Amino acid sequence: MHRRDLLYRLDLQNFTRELLSLYDELIPTEEEEVRRRKFFSKLESLFERELPGTRLFLFGSCVNAFGVCNSDIDVCLSVDEEEPNKIELVVQMATILESDAMLNVQALTHARVPIVKFTEPATGISCDICVNNTLAVVNSKLLHDYAQIDVRLRQLAFMVKHWAKRRQVNDTYRGTLSSYAYVLMCIHFLQQRRPPILPCLQEMRPTYEVKVGSIRCAYYDQVETLRDFGADNKETLGELLTAFFDYWACQHDYNHSVISVRTGGYLSKNEKEWTRRIGNERHLICIEDPFEVTHDLGRVVDKHSIKALRAEFSRAANVVAFDFNPWATLFEPY
Ligand code: CTP
Ligand code: MG
Repeated sequence: MHRRDLLYRLDLQNFTRELLSLYDELIPTEEEEVRRRKFFSKLESLFERELPGTRLFLFGSCVNAFGVCNSDIDVCLSVDEEEPNKIELVVQMATILESDAMLNVQALTHARVPIVKFTEPATGISCDICVNNTLAVVNSKLLHDYAQIDVRLRQLAFMVKHWAKRRQVNDTYRGTLSSYAYVLMCIHFLQQRRPPILPCLQEMRPTYEVKVGSIRCAYYDQVETLRDFGADNKETLGELLTAFFDYWACQHDYNHSVISVRTGGYLSKNEKEWTRRIGNERHLICIEDPFEVTHDLGRVVDKHSIKALRAEFSRAANVVAFDFNPWATLFEPY
């Protein structure tokens, strides 16, 4: 092997080692998992008493395998009505939580998805509760199932989410992307590697199927049979993270392409009719939701934040390619 290639390989090995040790630090401890389970059963008892006939479900990073330590808990209140008054329920939940001595209770009734936010004083756990957001429960299961196939997905997504939080590009209120969008970008990226590291579960024979309103959610969920799927691909975390940033910095066709986990490939903006701005919804970076296919997770990105986002992808790509200590520089707070 050429000396320069050898040095490059040694650097990559080092980089991977550093990233894996960061990954280990970010994994929630068993103690934290126990605390969360206790918190959730307490909440279930409270709601059984105060809102009988309703049910609580967990979704988001506390169940989708992409939660790092000290993440918030996302909960969905399920009520047996076609069109419940979500605002009224959010206000009602806020009253119940306040009388149960929860802290910082806030009813966000005017958000796109109305929620009540609060903190439990004993554990300091923060929680958001929304109403009848069944699609979020189902897409959390999809993410969780993908994570069981190859551990490199969870590792890559932890690094990307950590990077996005540190570099302040993980805030939909400020025009950047949600954690959910970043995880979908990671799944899509691993579906595209050659040989692929992840399959496309929605293109396989469905073994799981639910209908949420008019949306049929179906995919192959017997993922324990797919544990060897990515075995022919030997890429390490360092190589994958380098290629991920290079893809979003230099290779993605922002003008024409839509990434689609549902099809395991790319769609065109034309076929999705995502070529024009409608109201506040722009399509400057297009990420198709796997079930709600009319939903572009990039729609929150505007002409200013797309620049910031792409500048961050370029910075990251340069750091991992040229920096002497990439693991330190990459995650430097913005
Ligand atoms: N979600 C969604 N559509 C969106 C954003 C989020 O359906 N546009 C749902 C997904 O089920 C996602 C959950 O809301 O898993 C929580 O979203 P988010 O906070 O972005 O992801 P987390 O995995 O909870 O990440 P974090 O650890 O940053 O809280
Ligand atoms: Mg969350």
